[in-house]
Amino acid sequence: MAINTPLSFSLLSSLTFILLTISSHAFSIEEASICDLQLAFKQNQLTSRKLVEFYIGEINRLNPILKGVMETSPDALFQADKADYERRIKAPGSLAGLHGIPILLKDNIATKDKLNTTAGSFALLGSVVPRDAGIVVKLRKAGAIILGKASLNEWAGFMSVKAPNGFSARGGQGENPYLLSANPCGSSSGSAISVAANLVTVSLGTENDGSILCPSNANSVVGIKPTVGLTSRAGVIPISLRQDTVGPICRTVSDAVYVLDAIVGIDYHDHATQEAAKYIPHGGYKQFLKRHALKGKRLGIVRNPFLSSASESESQAFEHHLQTLSQRGAVLVDRLEIANMDTISTGTAEGTALLAEFKISLNAYLKELVASPVRTLADVIAFNQKFADVENIKEFGQDLFLAAQATNGIGNRENAALSNLAKLTRDGFQKLMCDYNLDALVTPGAGIARVLAIGGFPGINVPAGYDDSGVPFGINFGGLKGSEPKLIEIAYGFEQASKIRKPPTFKALNFTRMLLSSLTDV
Ligand SMILES: *[C@@H]1O[C@H](CO)[C@@H](O)[C@H](O)[C@H]1NC(C)=O
Ligand SMILES: *[C@@H]1O[C@H](CO)[C@@H](O)[C@H](O)[C@H]1NC(C)=O
Repeated sequence: MAINTPLSFSLLSSLTFILLTISSHAFSIEEASICDLQLAFKQNQLTSRKLVEFYIGEINRLNPILKGVMETSPDALFQADKADYERRIKAPGSLAGLHGIPILLKDNIATKDKLNTTAGSFALLGSVVPRDAGIVVKLRKAGAIILGKASLNEWAGFMSVKAPNGFSARGGQGENPYLLSANPCGSSSGSAISVAANLVTVSLGTENDGSILCPSNANSVVGIKPTVGLTSRAGVIPISLRQDTVGPICRTVSDAVYVLDAIVGIDYHDHATQEAAKYIPHGGYKQFLKRHALKGKRLGIVRNPFLSSASESESQAFEHHLQTLSQRGAVLVDRLEIANMDTISTGTAEGTALLAEFKISLNAYLKELVASPVRTLADVIAFNQKFADVENIKEFGQDLFLAAQATNGIGNRENAALSNLAKLTRDGFQKLMCDYNLDALVTPGAGIARVLAIGGFPGINVPAGYDDSGVPFGINFGGLKGSEPKLIEIAYGFEQASKIRKPPTFKALNFTRMLLSSLTDV
């Protein structure tokens, strides 16, 4: 056969050589997934040090405008060198899942290192945490490099209803990297902005009601909001343990799943993790990254009220995506309604419960600190009054703090609200899922977040398109407690069939604003 002649052989090998050369030169850190990076490590095209240096360079270049990153860790390069050394001396198969991969943590996640943990507030600057948060212990075990802290809505949005999304006193105003004046949403704004803009490989956010799903939706990234209790909340500055959850924000479903695999599981500092551990599948979540898993999945479509706030392009994209899901074998059960959706949307019962729960949980967090300028919610309120200028109290107030401080534990009012919430969930989302035997509910944007929040249910946001001015929007897959395996199959199937995500172009409608914001905080 011709292929065995010396000429063809040398032609083939030089072709191989050229291809290898091209591929090694074509490797780019931007948009690289965890798998891409690990392959590059293995093929000696990249080291963790080079990776961290790249991100620190990008943070120095872009963060004065984007303000997605609050602090970078002075230890990140040391951790990178350690990872590079381990890669050289250890057997290839023995390295943990996130080995040598940089991650940013929302600034309400405690780290016992040189980084501050402040929820964006000067009141917690200088506080000393007792230990790493439960999920940080797991991340370090999985080999991740803690690159730094991401900005957020101050106090995860629970200080003031007037404060804008993405804003904190310490972090400044986070900007949407697709259109700098567009809403980045929150409260995990910096986590979403930073992965979207390639300032880091992956990040963690937290959600009480919408805080992972909404910024993921607005910044064209994948966010997984896990079932409450699947990931430990110990060492996370809380809103309410009934609704708080920690989850990954990443550029792809597989990256988010690799991070999820690293952070789920029992933590003796958070009792809810023992109960929720029953949901964790043997072998973890990456086995559900299957290309053809949409086949036979029963998907409920709820349009009202989620499509009414959607733009023309978002509505069109949603219809198109439903077709895609159906073509890939999913069974669509269309035009469903969630009972009492109006009542759920007002958030009245939820608000009553959260205000009282917040005071209890925040006081418990502050009490556990080794050292801190503030020890109670009352101290934080007094701090804000004293430093009203730096904490922007004249502009935004601290109405939620004041309302929370006025509560007095879980009394009759709160108990009534809690049973009301349980009933809304039973008659609404849960009944719908069971009556129609659904694997997931599909909704445009992140409007479903409150329905998932009050029941402790999981959801995944996947990029779904961009409107006429380039602002991203997503699609949400929500399910019952512990349904992450199915949600991951559906989200991954959709992502692979649609491949919507594009890196941001940093469009600025208002150059004056951009220039001003880059000058003020450098
Ligand atoms: C933590 O805050 C202190 C006080 O502002 C600051 O000196 C220090 O640099 C911060 N740590 C990091 C890692 O930025
Ligand atoms: C642009 O931003 C500046 C500074 O924030 C503001 O004063 C100005 O009104 C903005 N212009 C437009 C057209 O939005």
